[in-house]
Amino acid sequence: MRVALLGCGTVGSEVVRLLHSQSADLAARIGAPLEIAGIAVRRIGRDRGELPVDPAVFTADPFDLVKRDDIDVVVECVGGIEPARSWLVEALRAGKSVVTANKALLAEDGGTLHDAAARGGGDLYYEAAVAGAIPLLRPLRESLHGDRVTQVTGIVNGTTNFILSAMDTTGAGFAEALAEATDLGYAEADPTADVEGFDAAAKAAILASLAFHTRVGAADVHREGITEVTAADVASAKAMGCTIKLLCIAARGTAADGRETVSVRVHPAMIPLTHPLAGVGDAFNAVFVEAEAAGQLMFYGPGAGGAPTASAVLGDVVAVSRNRLAGVRAASESAYADLPVRPMGEALTRYHISLDVTDRPGVLAAVAGVFAEHGVSIATVRQGAAGSGVAGRDEDADLVIVTHVAPDAALAATVQALRGLDAVRSVASVLRVEGSA
Ligand code: NDP
Ligand code: HSE
Repeated sequence: MRVALLGCGTVGSEVVRLLHSQSADLAARIGAPLEIAGIAVRRIGRDRGELPVDPAVFTADPFDLVKRDDIDVVVECVGGIEPARSWLVEALRAGKSVVTANKALLAEDGGTLHDAAARGGGDLYYEAAVAGAIPLLRPLRESLHGDRVTQVTGIVNGTTNFILSAMDTTGAGFAEALAEATDLGYAEADPTADVEGFDAAAKAAILASLAFHTRVGAADVHREGITEVTAADVASAKAMGCTIKLLCIAARGTAADGRETVSVRVHPAMIPLTHPLAGVGDAFNAVFVEAEAAGQLMFYGPGAGGAPTASAVLGDVVAVSRNRLAGVRAASESAYADLPVRPMGEALTRYHISLDVTDRPGVLAAVAGVFAEHGVSIATVRQGAAGSGVAGRDEDADLVIVTHVAPDAALAATVQALRGLDAVRSVASVLRVEGSA
């Protein structure tokens, strides 16, 4: 099996090392040896340390490499939309099998890759694209195909989980925790894709597509990052017996007309400490899958890093290589359900709202009236409770309200109306609450 590797950075270089150190076992598992026939990179002369590969295999021309007739499997560890899409479409149309870790491309235009694979007759595998080393996509795409998945809830971004865990443990603010994540090498020099939720949204789209047999793209995912989460929010969550996590939530639902739908969202949320995802700390990932017959399943492990991600990549390389030797291909993309994606406004959520209000008679009634006008039911109210982080002052009071479940649009409209209330000096924070208390 002759492999073309595109990209030899954090993940690609570990693929090379693992492929070398496990070569005998991999050959035995596949039934034929794996050979790296070419590695495409941007800078040929870059120092890559001790890599167990002939320097002559390096090229700066990925197109030329994927077009070669002697290549069986193309492994893409570059990232980004273009030119990666063009390389992979070229390879797939020519009948080669493709293994990719590129979540951004799969979420942006996975359909084009799946179509090219179906036309060319090769496989398209991408286990490493979501939650790194955790075997998650294969269970969704194969093991659970006899069941009906109802919801997938996950922590799928290690950088933001490290930041939120640090804020929870030390009481640090977002900027301080981000600086620590950068110092320790978790956050990239430009952390935008992680902290603004783009990375998690791409992964949410991939998970939803597999779980609900429907093409879901990044544009279908409601996305909010963690940059607005404050130390006060974290303290308030603690006071409620909760912690704050950046969650991706993909759920089946039913629209007003009775049609089945999916909703896919990424946002920070408070979850109770008793929730299976609450104890997932540092840069770990975990995904909680609920299915009608199987019940609740939890997948946990390292979601990033060179070696863990390379483990998932090589698992796919073994699978597609075996298929090629057997002259078969894996089942095509399953998108038959084609469920409509429900707008965020219709998603059913709960809100935790902190208000800075004037402390005089009738204010609580006025605030409660706004909730009632929007059909939102209040679950709990706290004002100045000792040790809750809600401190009363001479003329102002901090009010923390948690709602029952309501459509997100009604909750957002409630917050908007509260901002216009005379007695409300400011809406200090708004966070969604997930999981039963
Ligand atoms: P890196 O930035 O470390 O490596 C990228 C590699 O691609 C480098 O070898 C670079 O070449 C090469 N490259 C970039 N542009 C081109 C180009 N135009 N032509 C040829 N080669 C090019 O990325 P990672 O290894 O971190 O990530 C690779 C993929 O894996 C991405 O899709 C990422 O989302 C995904 N992924 C990464 C994880 C991680 O923990 N890092 C986890 C899960 C998925 P050169 O070395 O010469 O600069
Ligand atoms: N930046 C990603 C993370 C890498 O922090 O989880 C893995 O996709």
